[in-house]
Amino acid sequence: MAFFKKSKKDTSLSLKDIQLPLHIGIIMDGNGRWAKKRGLPRTAGHTAGAQTFRRIARYCSDIGIKYLTVYAFSTENWKRPKEEVDAIMKLFKEYMIEAINDFQDDSIVVKFIGDRTVFSDDMLELIEKNENDSKDRDGMVLNIAMNYGGRDEIVHAVKDIFADIQNGKLTADDISDQLLSDYMYTKSQPDPDLIIRPSGEYRTSNFLLWQSAYSEYCIMDVLWPDFKSEHLDEALIDFAKRNRRFGGV
Ligand code: FPP
Repeated sequence: MAFFKKSKKDTSLSLKDIQLPLHIGIIMDGNGRWAKKRGLPRTAGHTAGAQTFRRIARYCSDIGIKYLTVYAFSTENWKRPKEEVDAIMKLFKEYMIEAINDFQDDSIVVKFIGDRTVFSDDMLELIEKNENDSKDRDGMVLNIAMNYGGRDEIVHAVKDIFADIQNGKLTADDISDQLLSDYMYTKSQPDPDLIIRPSGEYRTSNFLLWQSAYSEYCIMDVLWPDFKSEHLDEALIDFAKRNRRFGGV
């Protein structure tokens, strides 16, 4: 049985009629299947997926989304063939260089979430330059999850809290929901209201585990490289009709 069943497309509403989510998460899934369907190598799917990412990030910013988090590479994705990992890292690097050179007048604030200690010095430099150059902008916050894992993030948070208890900055009594949130990579950002997963898989895949306690999921039957702004509109309209109770009645 479909657990996160998406409602049928509603053509009676448009974006101007609805309240948009503050924070959207997207699991950019289906690149490999998209390529396979066309007899192409998986890496061609990621190249197409990177283009979709550019279009959808721009669209989210244009319609007034305040926070967008995209899942680009998980802590488990290193298990993939080296050629595929290298291709994703290359696409990521290309985007970071493009963002530094071409987006000077942009309003988007670029952030990277995940364990960055594994990246090479030149990659780290690009990450930090993007974050520093964009930090004072006033537009949408774009979190790019690279070498990100929800469990890994929680483990890091617990270790950092433990260190701060040991060095006297915190006591065990300070530990609370809010404190944990403040030690996550998404510190001081609202939790995602809506998480979109294209490609029809009914899994969280270790994405924003702590932050998604009350996120609404929208599973869509489209592969990420084929994802268009119309699919995003459809997810937003579906989301607007959900009755969010956050555990209440
Ligand atoms: C999941 O699809 C996708 C990935 C693991 C990589 C996503 C990467 C990009 C979209 C491009 C690089 C990112 C940036 C920020 C430029 P899959 O390969 O698991 O698809 P499948 O389930 O059909 O095999």
